[in-house]
Amino acid sequence: MTVLNSREELEKYIAEQKKLQKTIGFAPTMGALHAGHISLYEAARKENDLVISSIFVNPTQFNNPDDLEKYPRNVKKDIQKLEDSGFVDAVYIPSVEDMYPGETKSKHYDFGGIENEMEGKARPGHFDGVGTVVEELFRQVQPDNAYFGDKDYQQLAVIRKLQQNLDLPLKIHGVPIYREPNGLAMSSRNERLSPEQRKKAAVIYDTLLKVNDWFRVISIPEIYRRVEEIFEKEDGFVLEYFTIADEETLKETDFFYKDRNYRAFIVVFAGEVRLIDNMHLA
Ligand code: PAF
Repeated sequence: MTVLNSREELEKYIAEQKKLQKTIGFAPTMGALHAGHISLYEAARKENDLVISSIFVNPTQFNNPDDLEKYPRNVKKDIQKLEDSGFVDAVYIPSVEDMYPGETKSKHYDFGGIENEMEGKARPGHFDGVGTVVEELFRQVQPDNAYFGDKDYQQLAVIRKLQQNLDLPLKIHGVPIYREPNGLAMSSRNERLSPEQRKKAAVIYDTLLKVNDWFRVISIPEIYRRVEEIFEKEDGFVLEYFTIADEETLKETDFFYKDRNYRAFIVVFAGEVRLIDNMHLA
């Protein structure tokens, strides 16, 4: 596996690969890699000549400086995990200057309103930060295919819009949520949970499964009430929000229309750690 430590090294590498007409599959990350990330590269491996990863903790997408500071970083371990997976040809590890020449600042995007729902409300400016770094990574890496996890479903929707609005010449792929054996969605933040919290966090997936059972059977206000009740009873867990939204507009719904698709979203704090998860309702 090739390690590309600067924009200059990446540009040289990409120019060589493009000359050889290799197709490129790409999945950007902020490091602290886990099996969920590796599943993105497994998907990319099946559909591309070359698979490229990137590791960059993007400062502009953190609205909480404490969260940015506490974000787990272990590049050496990450490189080893990518290498061991056998799915990845190269990893790009840019500096802040490589990604933000000049000022470290977000661009402002209009994603048609989806950026203002859920995480957009909870984390102002977050999707401008994600859009800025992902656009820049796409321009530098020039992938044919890019892979993102369904876990950050709103992020995936924003990136699909980014690709459409800017008419970027690549295809975006969503990859199913990779879960721990107890159902907890894999996340770099899980490392910050105590063993006890990690065990108890199974309640998030269990609740989503219950919501799916209640879908189109029980009224929406009653579903919300039951979810709130579950978390009120769960010591050490605080529900930040629970939303059932239209899968396309991401707007919260108060009625299930026959011809629309819906998804349930949960954000909870386990102590200080913010955990997110979602499920398509069927
Ligand atoms: O999902 C992430 O890890 C980040 O938001 C991404 C897409 C790598 C952009 O920094």
